[in-house]
Amino acid sequence: DHQREQRIKDIYALLEDASAYYQQQLREHPNKATAVNYLKDRGLTGQIAARFGIGYAPPGWDNLLKKLAKDDATKQRLEQAGMLINKEDTDRFYDRFRERIMFPIRDSRGRVIAFGGRVLGDEKPKYLNSPETDTFHKGRELYGLYEARKFNQKLDRLIIVEGYMDVVGLAQYGINYAVATLGTATSAQHLDRIFRTVQEVIFCFDGDAAGRKAAKRALDTTLPVITDGKQARFLFLPEGEDPDSLVRIEGNEAFEKRLNEALPLSDFFFKTLEEGADMTSLDGRARYSNQALPMIDEMQPGILKQMMQEKISDLTGLSLEQLSSVNNLQEATAV
Ligand code: GTP
Ligand code: MN
Ligand code: MN
Ligand code: MN
Ligand code: MN
Repeated sequence: DHQREQRIKDIYALLEDASAYYQQQLREHPNKATAVNYLKDRGLTGQIAARFGIGYAPPGWDNLLKKLAKDDATKQRLEQAGMLINKEDTDRFYDRFRERIMFPIRDSRGRVIAFGGRVLGDEKPKYLNSPETDTFHKGRELYGLYEARKFNQKLDRLIIVEGYMDVVGLAQYGINYAVATLGTATSAQHLDRIFRTVQEVIFCFDGDAAGRKAAKRALDTTLPVITDGKQARFLFLPEGEDPDSLVRIEGNEAFEKRLNEALPLSDFFFKTLEEGADMTSLDGRARYSNQALPMIDEMQPGILKQMMQEKISDLTGLSLEQLSSVNNLQEATAV
């Protein structure tokens, strides 16, 4: 209704004001050197910081409050926007983001819808995100997508990385097509969004246990939605590195080379299943096939699906008809 529409309009305007304020603080706050040096130490130039609208939330409980909340109605709006926190059982408010590097999160139209904030040191939590609000739905948004499209209207591929700094760090090294999910797993909605923009996605998570687990989850999410003509690949990084740290060590060319050699989805799929399977025995191959078939079955009809089924057929010596009747039998008895 009309009131809701007005409220949301107000929220967008306040988030834009907040973003302008944080960027201004990065230029003008008496302590700005701490923030500027932090960004410099991480290899970022002012140009890239400006492209992503990076800012600084100074120390203190009520900087944004004093700057933007001129009246009670505005305080309420800022709370609904996720920028102020209402002190429990009182009518008092304080700034959610304090003493942090601020990354504005924009929607596909470029409107600021939320923020991520990073501490300058080792304090916890390292990152703080806006809560879910009327304008911000974490499971849908991709950090950096607006900036990537703005930079290049003819994108042909996108990289999905874990973090804000991975997106920004890659851009600093001329790789201007990375996006990050916001601390959530890659969802079908994310993929839908990506495949409406480009033909190819490359998953590139951190070189650690969490990153490898995220890649397996991404595989499960991608299998049922991938269609012929779209491509998904996986890039695994050396232990302990993430895209930001690695591109800083290796530079643009070496990183692009890795991207170009990333593992196709089907290769990753079969490689994952082969781990721990004994492919030399009939029993092992049967187990492997029994795991693979239902997952391949989930895929959209097409040539890739057919070829993956053929591979199982070659491996087992069973025809596609025989495999399909086994699979149907299993589905029927699984209930
Ligand atoms: P840097 O240390 O700045 O390089 O961060 P990073 O992006 O490499 O962080 P990390 O690999 O630890 O985490 C990846 C992403 O997960 C971050 O960019 C955040 O989006 C999210 N994340 C990490 N730590 C936290 C946290 O403490 N709280 C929340 N909400 N999200 C986090
Ligand atoms: Mn919405
Ligand atoms: Mn990590
Ligand atoms: Mn990092
Ligand atoms: Mn990381």
